[in-house]
Amino acid sequence: MAIDKFYVTTPIYYVTAKPHLGTLYSTLLADVAARWNTLQGKRVFFLTGTDEHGQKIAQAAEKAGMAPKEFVDSFVPHFIDAWRMYDIHYTHFIRTTDKEHVLAVQNWLRKLRDQGDIYKATYQGWYCVSDETFVLEKEVGATPTDSGPLCPSCGRPTIELSEESYFFRLSAYQDRLLKLYEERPDFIIPKERAHEVISFVQSGLKDLSISRTTVKWGIPFPDDPNHVTYVWADALNNYITAIGYGQPGKEAQFKQWWPADLQVLGKDIIRFHAVYWPAFLMATGLEMPEHLLVHGWIKVDKQKMSKSFGNAIDPIELHKKYGTDPVRYYLMRQIAITHDSEFSIEDLEQKIGSDLADALGNLLNRLVSLAHKHDVFDIAAPEIWSEKAIDLRNECFNTIDDYSNYMQDCMYHMALSRLWRFIHSTNAYFHEHEPWKLAKQNREQFIQVLSATAHSLRAIALLLWPVMPKTMAHLLDSIGVIFDEHTGNDMIEELRLGAWQHHFLLKKVPMLFHKPEIKEMAPESNVQAATPAENKAPEQNYITIDDLVKVELVVGTIEQCEAVPNSEKLLKMQVDFGDKGKRQIIAGIRASYAPEQLVGKQGLFVLNLQPRKMAGLESQGMMLVAEGSDKLVKRMAPEVPVPNGTRLR
Ligand code: MSP
Repeated sequence: MAIDKFYVTTPIYYVTAKPHLGTLYSTLLADVAARWNTLQGKRVFFLTGTDEHGQKIAQAAEKAGMAPKEFVDSFVPHFIDAWRMYDIHYTHFIRTTDKEHVLAVQNWLRKLRDQGDIYKATYQGWYCVSDETFVLEKEVGATPTDSGPLCPSCGRPTIELSEESYFFRLSAYQDRLLKLYEERPDFIIPKERAHEVISFVQSGLKDLSISRTTVKWGIPFPDDPNHVTYVWADALNNYITAIGYGQPGKEAQFKQWWPADLQVLGKDIIRFHAVYWPAFLMATGLEMPEHLLVHGWIKVDKQKMSKSFGNAIDPIELHKKYGTDPVRYYLMRQIAITHDSEFSIEDLEQKIGSDLADALGNLLNRLVSLAHKHDVFDIAAPEIWSEKAIDLRNECFNTIDDYSNYMQDCMYHMALSRLWRFIHSTNAYFHEHEPWKLAKQNREQFIQVLSATAHSLRAIALLLWPVMPKTMAHLLDSIGVIFDEHTGNDMIEELRLGAWQHHFLLKKVPMLFHKPEIKEMAPESNVQAATPAENKAPEQNYITIDDLVKVELVVGTIEQCEAVPNSEKLLKMQVDFGDKGKRQIIAGIRASYAPEQLVGKQGLFVLNLQPRKMAGLESQGMMLVAEGSDKLVKRMAPEVPVPNGTRLR
């Protein structure tokens, strides 16, 4: 029996940082999966949200001088706005501070305690606040002299805990977990990621401490409010509470969606999802999710992108410059789920230019322009297709099959790479037939080439819709295809079985994609053209106030500074810009400053300069300096310290 529902989840994000490209990536994977299943006529529930309890958040709130709830409230709109900007169509946004969630988690705790899966004892050991995780004896790293051993995952010092705690009887689930991995080899996608999970479980599971008494910001334990629930027991349960678990009256709704069909997560949280979560579900008497999709990290200069490393790329900035769909495409195409991948602006721009503007955008543009030039607005399919058109059609059907298989396996990067092979074939078909000549020599052949190209574009646009929904809707509109994703029909099956007999109505739509360099050049060339025409004293070279405010001049504190290896000129700095985050800035000032002279000092920086690579390192802004009479440069800084992130005016 065909399964007609699809329930997909993302991790819920800590509200200590605004969304960055890494969190966008996780969320996009789920959005693409949701849309792919919508295209297949399924009912879809797509869940995302925020993880708002725990020591890390309480500490961040305190640092910001805010009450925890006020602090978390102030972060949530950043997520909602970013997801809206990227056309992420989630069904529900859960917050772990939602009343329904809190009550449902308490019901869950009560049930597990009553049945003996949760008991009270004393926890003695190490805790990593940053990862909100207890660190096991067997995995602690080296011990720095003045603090606890290092967390094996993030490398930060842990703290020692000795507290009364509730424990989850994880040790009782070891055999059942191993059986699960054995019986369901596709439980974890990609399969290779299961190895570390299996060996972790095989090496022996200890019971898991799931409550804290020294932390107040969390869900109070039922009948024992001195204890608050450990963040992961709170957070993981969002996947069931969001669809009604533990809430009287919502049983039918819950049954309709659980088990989840796909749970997206990064490799950093695989143990929580592939070990603790299934064990929690077993104890609860619930079915396992169908698949966990575990992706790698987006890295910048070989380091995981994250706010705490100061190398986070702001999706809002990328959006301003490149728009929604090009960034969606790039993340799905270039970041391989199976690996860690480097992000680079050069690469992004190159892909937008070659794949989107040149290969796909131009194909549509050439088709419609040529047809209109020869007064063709409406194309009927030919009675008999030529051999070359049949070859193209066969390749189209093969592409649909291959693409669907990759999408079904969540190998989106492979699916897109396969589809682009077909886009290149369609371009080659169009070009080889020289339809601009056929238009005058053989009208019938001319129409056939246009029709075959339009049929290919129709398939391409439908297949690509989950990745670039708005642009593909424009493409379909341009060839007269009426598109509604909510018909409940399996559009992929229809595409697979459909004959090439469509009628197309061609209409010009604005260019689907712009090459980044064209976009970048535009403001400059406008200024040059406008000045003489308006006759405004060009020799003064004035800029307007609008031009000035385009430059984001911001004060930041240099937190770390070191010489760039193999470079005589460059220094690499980590600069804190307050609520604008941290950035890596590379500056050619080594002749003027020793790194230690700059640490802790404020400086002025241009933040919206296009990031560029220097000695292989990306500089995410520019430091302002002035050359002194001694030919050494001088750092510019405010007269007295001002808050980091202050913009100049
Ligand atoms: N709150 C927990 C998750 C609880 S789920 C029940 C958490 N939150 S997080 O804000 O740190 O975000 C975690 C997720 O964001 C990662 O698992 C991953 O999916 C995504 N990413 C964060 N940084 C990333 C990269 N640099 N690259 C790719 N994804 C990244 O952990």
